[in-house]
Amino acid sequence: MKDVIAANADLAIRRIRDHPDDYALIVAWRNNPHVREWWDPDEQPMTMSGAIEQLGPQTRGDDPTTPRIIEHDGIPVGYIEFYPWDAEKPYLAEVGVSLPKGSWGLDIFIGESGLVSKGIGSRTVRLISDTLFAERGATAVALIMEAGNGRAQAAYTRAGMRVSGEPFLDTDMRDGQRVESILMIRDRPGGTADGR
Ligand SMILES: CC(C)(COP(=O)(O)OP(=O)(O)OC[C@H]1O[C@@H](n2cnc3c(N)ncnc32)[C@H](O)[C@@H]1OP(=O)(O)O)[C@@H](O)C(=O)NCCC(=O)NCCS
Repeated sequence: MKDVIAANADLAIRRIRDHPDDYALIVAWRNNPHVREWWDPDEQPMTMSGAIEQLGPQTRGDDPTTPRIIEHDGIPVGYIEFYPWDAEKPYLAEVGVSLPKGSWGLDIFIGESGLVSKGIGSRTVRLISDTLFAERGATAVALIMEAGNGRAQAAYTRAGMRVSGEPFLDTDMRDGQRVESILMIRDRPGGTADGR
């Protein structure tokens, strides 16, 4: 099985190894303040056992969510996960969002604080979206993000996404309150997956 699932110049997206070294990387990144600010801010810091419990089944392919590590110049710098939105119907119904059948979703962070705003996030989102269109038949790639995360919105816009619809109340919490989120979407280039 090949390790790198998508690459473009100095950027690569690779499998997570089911090994403590990779889980330790993700734990350290998740607990960095610049990530915690926007990624489950009300949750306790991630522990190694928590990471193995959550990511182990996903890493082994036993879960609809596929987690991956982003490498830049051969060095691990961040995390991305993607999933078919069709597996998240109860969540979508709860937040009142409807998406085209066959849409894929993603979440991403750059774990190293010195490497944000250097174009890696937008390039990674574009690369994984192109891969989902080409290899998974995605009809659209859509993500849900906190409305106040201006840097993320700018990065996803650069990756070819646009805001769709109005802000809505998410199930994610900040300071005990449900956050206001937006949907960003990139349509499949040239039409739907079955060519219509
Ligand atoms: C969101 C994230 C993945 C984007 O990746 P990145 O590599 O930092 O993004 P890029 O460098 O590709 O693009 C950043 C854009 O934001 C802009 N930007 C930077 N700081 C900003 C701010 N405070 N407000 C608005 N825009 C900002 C940059 O100018 C750039 O836009 P441009 O390309 O049009 O000039 C990354 O910043 C990150 O991991 N943040 C912390 C965790 C997080 O927010 N995850 C996403 C949850 S939805």
